[in-house]
Amino acid sequence: MNTAIPRSWGGGEANPQLHTHPAALQRFQDQRFGMFIHWGPVTLRGEEIGWSRGVQIPKEDYDDLYQSFNPVLFDARAWVRTAKQAGMRYLVLTTRHHDGFCLWHSRYTDYDMAATPYGKDIVRALADECRRQEIDFGVYYSILDWHHPDYPVAYPDPNYEVHVERELSDPAGKAKMERFVAYVKDQLKELIETYDPPLIWFDGEWEWAWTHRMGMDLYAYLRGLKDDLLINNRVDKGREGMGGVTASPIFAGDYATPEQRIGTYDDTNPWESCITIGQAWAWKPNDTIKTKKECLHTLLQTAGGDGNLLLNIGPMFDGRMEQRQTTVLQAVGDWLAVNGDAVYGTRGGPYQPTEHLVSTRKHNTVYLHLLEPTTGELQLPFVKHVAVTKAYLMDGRVPLTVSQEDERLTITLPNPLPGDTAWVVALEVNTPAADIAVIKRSWY
Ligand code: GLC
Repeated sequence: MNTAIPRSWGGGEANPQLHTHPAALQRFQDQRFGMFIHWGPVTLRGEEIGWSRGVQIPKEDYDDLYQSFNPVLFDARAWVRTAKQAGMRYLVLTTRHHDGFCLWHSRYTDYDMAATPYGKDIVRALADECRRQEIDFGVYYSILDWHHPDYPVAYPDPNYEVHVERELSDPAGKAKMERFVAYVKDQLKELIETYDPPLIWFDGEWEWAWTHRMGMDLYAYLRGLKDDLLINNRVDKGREGMGGVTASPIFAGDYATPEQRIGTYDDTNPWESCITIGQAWAWKPNDTIKTKKECLHTLLQTAGGDGNLLLNIGPMFDGRMEQRQTTVLQAVGDWLAVNGDAVYGTRGGPYQPTEHLVSTRKHNTVYLHLLEPTTGELQLPFVKHVAVTKAYLMDGRVPLTVSQEDERLTITLPNPLPGDTAWVVALEVNTPAADIAVIKRSWY
């Protein structure tokens, strides 16, 4: 039986070679909120991972940092507990970032955790702990590796253009790249066989050395190893800039990846926004951390647009997560403990998200998320043929009076509203909420 979903990104014709595993996708979309973790020896310097190599930190220094990487306070149980308490349902770790350092014990390189004074396999510890605490464990893997001798692109490189031309026509260059791709495949097979992640989060696909053909080939290879693996669209060349959507159905990837921005409402093509809790991906001392309100609004705007949020945390060089970050996460989790039904397992809409109002839906309920305190009468357009049978405030299940006239809904809200950040009004309706057509933001 062929249960796979053919892809039709961008409205064009689906590529018959590309199929997303429906149950894996459903599970992922139901989770809605995940923790991204960027970590590695560079945290000893408090600079950006990968990008600071050869810029803020001389390459030779950067490449030696692993010799001092000894995060003795790393506690997988505490990290996973933090994610859980934040209400996150999955976690994605940078197993190998652009700097090429591997957070696991890799058979294929010595530039890995086994070579550090700490010595222990971080991926093993987190994968095991996630299984114990029932959080899905995904791996981030950068295709580009500025440290590997066979990878042809250097960063930073003033002669980038020259090198593109020379290397593309040079048989020796091609052979090097082939060796590099074999290394990538070996490592990914090793990650899949050892840690069995449900998801691989690629990155670094934008450099000239990586081609559409390689992306398609890698996607097919991985799906051959694990049929229900979920793979983001950075495996191939289809991602359109930081907006992250896949340009056309010819490109591989099971979901789109807007970066540092909330994706636009799209209930056809799955997407996940990755956004940092501070300014940087890796830990920086005194980084500006987003507030509970900023994090929560980001999550709700994302869910309202029918996407996932992968919120990035940067743990410190000694293995601990920074208290300023965990405090905010805990506050988000406290909100979700009360209102989580309006997020998990939902789809976005029917209202298109605005700055002040987003909506989600599940079964026979539409959830209105009020992002600013609203009291008195809330008036909204609604669909004529659907009746609201019950309305209540999620927090405390406080029943609300609602009246419906033609295409107008009036909800009377309590004054004051309980809590301080976002409020959810649940509207039970006499039809599957998924059937309600999108209500355009220009109508309210
Ligand atoms: C960008 C950055 C990288 C980061 C990633 C996460 O591609 O290059 O540092 O890991 O975004 O989305």
